[in-house]
Amino acid sequence: MKRKYGAVVAAGLGLALSLTACGEDDGNGSGSGSDGGEGKIGVILPDTESSVRWESADRPALEAAFEAAGVDYSIQNAEGDVEKMTQIADSMIADGVTVLAIVNLDSASGAAIQEKANAQGVATIDYDRLTLGGSAEYYVSFDNTVVGELQGQGLADCLGEKDANIIFLNGSPTDNNATLFAEGAHSVLDGIESYTQVGEQAVPEWDNEEAAVIFQQLYTQADGDVDGVLAANDGLGGAAISILEANGRAGEVPVTGQDATVEGLQNILAGTQCMTVYKSATLEAGALAEAAIALVNGEEAETTGTTPDSESGREVPSILLDPVAITVDNVGDVIDDGGQKLEDVCTADYADACAEAGIS
Ligand code: BGC
Repeated sequence: MKRKYGAVVAAGLGLALSLTACGEDDGNGSGSGSDGGEGKIGVILPDTESSVRWESADRPALEAAFEAAGVDYSIQNAEGDVEKMTQIADSMIADGVTVLAIVNLDSASGAAIQEKANAQGVATIDYDRLTLGGSAEYYVSFDNTVVGELQGQGLADCLGEKDANIIFLNGSPTDNNATLFAEGAHSVLDGIESYTQVGEQAVPEWDNEEAAVIFQQLYTQADGDVDGVLAANDGLGGAAISILEANGRAGEVPVTGQDATVEGLQNILAGTQCMTVYKSATLEAGALAEAAIALVNGEEAETTGTTPDSESGREVPSILLDPVAITVDNVGDVIDDGGQKLEDVCTADYADACAEAGIS
């Protein structure tokens, strides 16, 4: 698996790699290099709370991709604040970025940022989340409907064919991905007759603490008669597991997740989480770097197809990657692929579980 991903990334960055020079990181989320073209690429990550992925996986992967391509870049984090994202965008544009990639906090604010950028001749890219009504030249992400399908199928595999009451803990209502995850999961689970949906709620801003409160309410409303939880990412899954734990049910009720975080993988090893979805940050960041460099050079990036913007009807040229379902049987693949470090996952508390899962 490692080799496969590496090959894809290397092929994807072929142009950039053939021009390679080392950029220099100034230690402040930015770097410079002169061979990736004349442009500068700005990336605004959404927050540090909705998932650890943005700072722990995406930022280093983006830095590595831009450094390898020898292109100037700046990466900043809006910390969940729409005003802050808008200010960062303004200052990046003033600072001369030629391409601006955002992970929007909601479509309206993302579209406004993109419109302002375009008015000043700055091309934009949607990174991970599609901005509905936006004007991005490219959308770089994973196939998010498939992510939801993998979660639905993963939960079904853990539950088996028995009668089962299921609670859905969905992602933020302002995140188009959350809509796609839920649609994908429903498309699998709604078709299984022995399953009954006994609760469903979206978690504003993917807030993990609020997720625990919401899950407790849904659990109480269902009189605790819950057999499975479709949680949209590892943070929400962890929130559900904490409530199940408090009710003496952790490990008995399968819970899904996403992002293959350290917490998610450890929960899988401990048997309290049924599965997660691995989305290689190296691949996603590499695809973003490739698209951004194409824009800098006035060239067209290679796309995998288009994605319909459900608000404007526009078909957005897209680079969509394949997500991978992870269960206790293939946690090691995430580590082999560089998605997490062995020593971070297999800490003393999880050493036995890691050995049992054949991870060393
Ligand atoms: C991303 C997920 C992430 C979630 C919360 C989604 O848009 O695709 O990977 O867990 O946002 O940050």
